[in-house]
Amino acid sequence: MLRLVEIGVLGATGPAGRGLAARLACLGHDVIAGSRDAARSASAVAELSERWGDRLATLVPGTNADAAAARDLVIVATTWDAAVDTTRDHAGLLEGKVVVAMANGLVRVGKEFQPVLPEEGSLAAAMQAVAPGARVVAAFQHVPAAAFAALDEPLESDVVVCGDDDAARATVLDLVYAMPNLRGLDGGSLANAVGIEAFAAVLLSINLRYKGKGTLRLLGVESGRE
Ligand SMILES: NC(=O)c1ccc[n+]([C@@H]2O[C@H](COP(=O)([O-])OP(=O)(O)OC[C@H]3O[C@@H](n4cnc5c(N)ncnc54)[C@H](OP(=O)(O)O)[C@@H]3O)[C@@H](O)[C@H]2O)c1
Repeated sequence: MLRLVEIGVLGATGPAGRGLAARLACLGHDVIAGSRDAARSASAVAELSERWGDRLATLVPGTNADAAAARDLVIVATTWDAAVDTTRDHAGLLEGKVVVAMANGLVRVGKEFQPVLPEEGSLAAAMQAVAPGARVVAAFQHVPAAAFAALDEPLESDVVVCGDDDAARATVLDLVYAMPNLRGLDGGSLANAVGIEAFAAVLLSINLRYKGKGTLRLLGVESGRE
């Protein structure tokens, strides 16, 4: 049975954070949609509520600090180049919590995307470095924002989850499995997050070249559940 939790999403006014916040609220989780500007969050939540009505009864607006204070889990969904600074700014509130890093550092170069990675290897590892008390888990890098927001359509993707804290990875895998058709796969330690972040640039380049909407599906693995 799904364990309902309180989740904060920082930067929930962008397409990815807003869509993921809506998905999670739709499942019954209490979700705080954070923003640097409370009015922007209020307007994003009002738009979502107008569209989906009571299905998002547990979604509330707030500041990023309100979202970082969420009891159980925090998702950093700001633009990728603000993810580390935003994590640092809220490090005190994130102490002891599971913090999901979904950022992909990307730059468009001609007809492709290329990864932008920090010296720590991945943005997730850089977030862990600035918030050492947080339990950072990289996840959701390959799920398109539009898919999150389409609440009536099942999500079709594997979600590789990487982090150094076993219990935190298990928590995020549970969250993934609760979303219809998503399959969570344990990708191991945070050192491996570089692979999932960098692969997002390859995936987006393929989608651009073939005008596709490809996500990630790994063949030959029966289930993400051990
Ligand atoms: N788009 C996708 O399909 C997708 C898929 C998987 C993962 N991701 C990752 O998910 C994250 C969000 O993607 P997105 O496309 O939704 O991003 P986005 O629209 O570019 O930005 C999301 C939010 O970040 C906040 N923000 C902007 N600049 C900031 C700054 N300097 N400091 C703090 N916050 C700032 C803004 O919220 P406020 O102004 O309200 O504070 C903005 O609405 C990114 O890290 C991306 O790599 C995206």
